[in-house]
Amino acid sequence: MRENPIGVFDSGVGGLFVLNRLAAALPSERFIYLADEANMPYGVKDDGEIKRAACACASTLFSMNCKALVVACNTATAVAVDDIRRLYPNRIVIGLEPAVKPCCNELGKNGYAVALVTPATAESRKFKRLAAAAGDRLVSAPQPHLARMIEENVCDLSAVEPYVKEILSPYETAESVILGCSHYSCIANAVKRFYGGNIKIYDGADGAAARLSYCLALAGLLAPQCETGSMRFLSTARA
Ligand code: DGL
Repeated sequence: MRENPIGVFDSGVGGLFVLNRLAAALPSERFIYLADEANMPYGVKDDGEIKRAACACASTLFSMNCKALVVACNTATAVAVDDIRRLYPNRIVIGLEPAVKPCCNELGKNGYAVALVTPATAESRKFKRLAAAAGDRLVSAPQPHLARMIEENVCDLSAVEPYVKEILSPYETAESVILGCSHYSCIANAVKRFYGGNIKIYDGADGAAARLSYCLALAGLLAPQCETGSMRFLSTARA
């Protein structure tokens, strides 16, 4: 079991940023990445559709003998991770959450943060709880089009930059930006440019990597250190 792979999924390219951070933290592990492009975008679907799509990804990856699963998608975590955990009660299932707590802990006295999230994440109970705990120091900014634009322009993100400027212009005075959708990691540099470098940017990938390492170690499931890690890529998109 220690040599078995770790399954990672997202609706598309966003989770690749999470995968990179997981592989950096756990270089001896074998990863299988599933991009659920047939169902992209998750963030504007209703909860039932997101749950069905996310549970199907979990089923595909666990049927490939994955010893653990990382839901590398804030939307699927917010809406469906509890269902996945109910379906696989004896498996390690790690979610990806907007880094609201670490961000708000580091905010200056009068500063505020803006959280870019998908509409489905914004509407979820999990996110509303996080946002309520942060109070008026957090502004949540749901983005119905951004993930799809990133997915379609991933090879040349300069096309997305004017749109990034437009959505950030109401928040020129923010101290921090939370990238609350794994796709938004692609625009981290555009966000920095908008604020002239004077901004702190947060995402949940390091938190997920730390939690995965902890859970694998606790279960005695870390790959032997002598193993060379690997990555395999799958997609649900039809050719
Ligand atoms: N990458 C996903 C997330 O982290 C959502 C993108 C989509 O809408 O499919 O929320």
